[in-house]
Amino acid sequence: MIRILVAYATMAGSTADVARAVGEEIAKSGLQVDVLPLSEIKDLEAYDGVVVGGPMIMGWHRASLRFLKKHRDAFQRIPLAVFVMAMSLTRTGETSVGGVPVYVDEKLPKPPEKEGSLNFRERYARLSKYLQPILLATRPVKPVSIGIFGGRLEYGRLKWWAVLFVMLIVQAPAGERRNWPAIRAWAAGLPAAFQLESTKVDVLKQAA
Ligand SMILES: Cc1cc2nc3c(=O)[nH]c(=O)nc-3n(C[C@H](O)[C@H](O)[C@H](O)COP(=O)(O)O)c2cc1C
Repeated sequence: MIRILVAYATMAGSTADVARAVGEEIAKSGLQVDVLPLSEIKDLEAYDGVVVGGPMIMGWHRASLRFLKKHRDAFQRIPLAVFVMAMSLTRTGETSVGGVPVYVDEKLPKPPEKEGSLNFRERYARLSKYLQPILLATRPVKPVSIGIFGGRLEYGRLKWWAVLFVMLIVQAPAGERRNWPAIRAWAAGLPAAFQLESTKVDVLKQAA
């Protein structure tokens, strides 16, 4: 049976629920799915497709980037998709970065204050700025798809330096911005993006 891994990093826990929803949607296509924190994954040998998710924490979660770099060679064989959770994204109209299609949660991007001239914070929160390190980490492989979605922010759980960064740079109000229909719609398309729908693979296996 085709086996997919949905691996996630999290700081405050909300990305774990997102990974579970992504896994549920993929499983609806008849594929076997494991949803695991990155820290529990030793190797990718058992898998035919991998989804790696993580939040923006002053750049994409460091453990997620490390994971992509560590398994770069495996991704030459195993198709990869990535999802990013964020509270702030500047509306630029981009739908791909470095040739990779990007699914943007339509509720997340905010238009710049002045059309045509982005301030420091708006430049920081551009899609290309967020995703460039991810594309560098997987090079020469490109993910088949990247999804970026609104996350969840709770100031009460944060250390003082984290509160300061979020207030100054992210400038997002606390709250729940996970858009489940958007997350599930993106995830439902992954078996096709991986070219791994179960019936197709079964036919290929029988023919071999
Ligand atoms: C220290 C810190 C830094 C963050 N940096 C960013 C950021 O650069 N851009 C952004 O859009 N969101 C940023 N966020 C918001 C998180 O990405 C968002 O709250 C996410 O859903 C948290 O996921 P988690 O609950 O799995 O940790 C930051 C949050 C924290 C606490």
